[in-house]
Amino acid sequence: MLQGRRILLIVSGSVAAFKALMLARLLREEGATVRAVLTAAGARFVTRESLAALTAEPVFDDLWAAEAEIGHIRLARWADLVLVAPASASRLAAMAGGLATDLAGCILLATRAPVLVAPAMNPAMWEHPATEANVATLRARGVGFIGPDSGAMAEPESGPGRLVEPEAMCDAVRAALSDGPLRGQHILVTSGPTHEPIDPVRYIANRSSGRQGHAIAAALARLGARVTLVSGPVAMPDPAGVQVVRVETAREMLAACEAALPADGAICAAAVADWRVAREAGQKLKKEPGAGAPVLEMALNPDILATLSVHARRPRLMVGFAAETEQVVEHAQAKLARKGCDWIMANDVSGDVMGGMENAVHLVSAEGVEDWPRMPKEEVAARLALRVAEALA
Ligand code: C5P
Repeated sequence: MLQGRRILLIVSGSVAAFKALMLARLLREEGATVRAVLTAAGARFVTRESLAALTAEPVFDDLWAAEAEIGHIRLARWADLVLVAPASASRLAAMAGGLATDLAGCILLATRAPVLVAPAMNPAMWEHPATEANVATLRARGVGFIGPDSGAMAEPESGPGRLVEPEAMCDAVRAALSDGPLRGQHILVTSGPTHEPIDPVRYIANRSSGRQGHAIAAALARLGARVTLVSGPVAMPDPAGVQVVRVETAREMLAACEAALPADGAICAAAVADWRVAREAGQKLKKEPGAGAPVLEMALNPDILATLSVHARRPRLMVGFAAETEQVVEHAQAKLARKGCDWIMANDVSGDVMGGMENAVHLVSAEGVEDWPRMPKEEVAARLALRVAEALA
């Protein structure tokens, strides 16, 4: 709930600005007070009257009028959270450059509240190196990103750059303002399989759906953690309020995890491929008549859990998963020692766990073994998140 929270909603210029109207309503339904700042470009897409009606507050769209009424400093200080939704490419550039040429720019420089941005733009604009650099700058400054989603655009095109849905933006606001037990902690989660290329069209993979890892990321975010989810290729939607980094291979996953450090905790739930093809073919391997099947030479992949467990910037709490088909607890205890982590969540994957909805795990640590009953993966996640909060408290 957002009872009593004050949210400053900056609406910049994008056709997706209509979603900001719905968002204002959702935030108010949760008890927040919402004040809108409409940029000149934003006003080409939604009207100040609509925003005023949906926020039941005055709308601020003119730096000089705002100075007369309340002042950008007071407006910036009023907010518990500043949310730029939609954030256009030009707004991200202005933020990265610290431009104070309009009311929104002044507020974004003056505020000490957390800032969230929900980008919306054409995929080519999102993927442009200039935008990528601006996003990196803003992330490094602690600005939180909500999305963008991938999908259909207003123009007949599709790709990353779509403004996330109002419900997901609302979830992200709740997480950012949460007074949950993990507030202020940064937790890294790995999820999904990895894909190890054989040639440009073929790869080696496994049956991991990412359901457990993604549920853990979502559960940690609900307790107020800042979560970086490093995910292999999955069909799962991004959990709300979580920073998602998409990778394909084990080596990319390790690099993304190291780039996300420092972290207070790391939950390695990904089913990382143990081996990769030693030499990925540059061209598609051809079926030559009479030549028989190719022999693939394999190479060992880095062990992400083991690497992070001895890392110079080791997270305080390292949690691994162990998928076993026999002697589940014994193998998990051996793995705990071998990998140098603090807990192993051991599960029996001889049934339908991999890719399934439920999980039966044993939490194995130096203190002993806890057997958890079989339950949906979301409940395993919620319970684990609470244990993580206790351990990091
Ligand atoms: O050795 P095994 O694959 O059974 O260990 C499983 C645990 O180790 C999981 O937490 C998994 O995410 C992690 N792991 C890893 N990097 C690897 C292999 C496994 O992080 N290359």
